[in-house]
Amino acid sequence: MKIISSPLELKKYLKNKNLSIGFVPTMGALHDGHISLIKKAKKQNDLVVVSIFLNPTQFCKNEDLDKYPKKDEADKHICKLIGVGVLFFPQIKDIYEDDEVSLMAPKIRGYVLEGSTRPSHFNGVLTVVQKLLNIVTPTKAYFGKKDAQQLNLISLMVKQLFMSVEIVAVDTVRESDGLALSSRNCYLSTKERQDALKISASLHSAGIMVSKNILNSDEITKKMKEVLSPLEIFYVEILNRDFEQLSQVEIGNTIILVEVKIGTTRLLDNIWL
Ligand code: PAF
Repeated sequence: MKIISSPLELKKYLKNKNLSIGFVPTMGALHDGHISLIKKAKKQNDLVVVSIFLNPTQFCKNEDLDKYPKKDEADKHICKLIGVGVLFFPQIKDIYEDDEVSLMAPKIRGYVLEGSTRPSHFNGVLTVVQKLLNIVTPTKAYFGKKDAQQLNLISLMVKQLFMSVEIVAVDTVRESDGLALSSRNCYLSTKERQDALKISASLHSAGIMVSKNILNSDEITKKMKEVLSPLEIFYVEILNRDFEQLSQVEIGNTIILVEVKIGTTRLLDNIWL
């Protein structure tokens, strides 16, 4: 596995390779969710590039970037073991300059759900993902369905900026008890981790209602909020795949999304129906 930290060096290394490139951008602290993205990229491409870059611009002012888990050596080891071809490992100075051209999240879809309480978050995500895609110029780039709004906005950016990469959505990986894998799970105490199971339980209850043909969004969200109680709920929403509100679940075109705060940790999850 080649480890490269300079964007220009990486561009040079990948130039004229004439291979299909699968790209998995990450912020490190790799878990089985990332591994499933990398495995899918391996299956579908000649060469896999993974980036590890803890992107400061997607953290809002009140969020603690320094507390984000850092596992650089373990991450390198994981990448090597699963057959990553190139690990892109830049420093902040390699990616950002002092005076930057800015890319803004769309005014509506970037400021609902996650964006309503983290207003600058998606500007930072889209900016860094665009930079990374421009550096790697992959054939396909892989993102988890767990961060459904991020996935939606990145797909929108690629379409609206006429970028030529194909965005591949990958299913959420869960612990055996249902908790969706997240780098933030390590912040949870034993009691908080137990409370967090209410998130997947609420989505499961929604799935059961839909299987009984109860499709009304108000009825489903009411039940989900009961299951989530007494957790602090940021949102429970039933949306179509374009992130528009649905009054009824439409099978094949629905995402049910939840975000809660447990202690000081925000956790999100969703199901695609
Ligand atoms: O999902 C993430 O880990 C990050 O938001 C991403 C896409 C790597 C951009 O920093």
